[in-house]
Amino acid sequence: MTDTKKSQHGEWSSRFAFILAATGSAVGLGNIWKFPYITGENGGGAFVIVYLLCVLLIGIPIMMAETMLGRRSRQNPINTMITLVDEAGADKNWHYLGWMGVAAGFLILSYYSVIAGWASAYVLKAFTGSFFGADAAAIKVIFDDFVASPAKLLFWHSLFMLATMLIVVRGVNTGLEKAVRFLMPSLFVLLILMVAYAMTTDTYDQGVKFLFTPDFSKLTGNGVLTAMGHAFFTLSLGMGAIMVYGSYLPKDVSISKTVFLIAGTDTVVALLAGIAIFPIVFASGLEPAAGPGLIFQTLPIAFGNMTGGWFFGILFFVMLVFAALSSSISLIEPAVAWLVENKDMSREQACIWSGSITWLLGFGTIFSFNVWSEFKIFDRTIFQLLDYLTANLMLPIGGFCIAVFAGWIMKQQYTEHELDMPNALSYQAWQILIRYVAPAAVFLVFLHVVGVL
Ligand code: PHE
Ligand code: NA
Repeated sequence: MTDTKKSQHGEWSSRFAFILAATGSAVGLGNIWKFPYITGENGGGAFVIVYLLCVLLIGIPIMMAETMLGRRSRQNPINTMITLVDEAGADKNWHYLGWMGVAAGFLILSYYSVIAGWASAYVLKAFTGSFFGADAAAIKVIFDDFVASPAKLLFWHSLFMLATMLIVVRGVNTGLEKAVRFLMPSLFVLLILMVAYAMTTDTYDQGVKFLFTPDFSKLTGNGVLTAMGHAFFTLSLGMGAIMVYGSYLPKDVSISKTVFLIAGTDTVVALLAGIAIFPIVFASGLEPAAGPGLIFQTLPIAFGNMTGGWFFGILFFVMLVFAALSSSISLIEPAVAWLVENKDMSREQACIWSGSITWLLGFGTIFSFNVWSEFKIFDRTIFQLLDYLTANLMLPIGGFCIAVFAGWIMKQQYTEHELDMPNALSYQAWQILIRYVAPAAVFLVFLHVVGVL
């Protein structure tokens, strides 16, 4: 394979463009919606520590591996696996890895889009002043009424899917790149503002303590799995999103430095969201374990009662929708790239196909919050099942395989060349993490959950 090979879909215009896109993929609902509510459900501090350890020891090395695989092959994740397996003379069963990633992308986007639809609906609610002077009880009624309506959820889910498809149609350089350029900094500023508001509540210390003081007796085996799964989810790992973005990465960019920056930003955003939300949770007497509605039941209280809350409320939910969009486009890009490369489709056709499938799958999640809320498989609603299947199983399994492939199957001379670490020691550190630490950690957590350990 030559170093001059480029992706047929184009290339990022610079290292900065890749950083923006990959950060756009990483930072999303996972940080602002999911991280706070699963932290609340799993008892706080101890969960946060396990999550942070997983980001550092498993997430970052696997993110480097995934970027590297994509950039080496310059194709969609399915073809990447086919090409690299060929190059290494490895077993053909590795091909399934690419397929599982594309499947995971569809499944995740099907519920991601529904929740992003909630955020979109909240832009309108903020705009019409629904939160003015409202207390916790009133805000809860607004949320409960909203999710009880399949028609409303369907409307906003459809709108969000349409927006995703419209951006993806325009392709890597124009669509994806421009969409994320201005949004990260604005989201960041708004989060700081929310933290400033949280500081004015007298439960600020209690909120921060909940997040950062570990009580390991509160952490169950499944909690550990959720923390690890979330490390994959929040960094967009294990399903090919980062791989496909890596395939558009110019050759002369240092993967290691770039990855640290992206993972660092993602982590800071999640922690800021937690610091902003938990003081409000306690101030308004809410349950930390309130579930997926947590941010929709807390932040509006702040917007309804702070100075400038009308303006900041609108802005916040707009930013959240944009952050979700820059993630959703990366969830569907592997499938679109595959359809274009292998099925001879135009980008338009590929977007329509994959978008329609995801849109249909979304009905399962929509109904789990209302008409099918009592319908449970393995004690879980369809939404909970999809979330568990993807974040807790498919992404860690995908990540495990990526680690084994990059650490053991690919030739060392290639990985060394592609990663281009600043010195030999950092390459060795990566190698130990990718060969032993990351796969063993994933494996042990699985054993722990099934009760063997
Ligand atoms: N990382 C995104 C978030 O935190 C979600 C995501 C997962 C995006 C997997 C792409 C792939 O919201
Ligand atoms: Na994230």
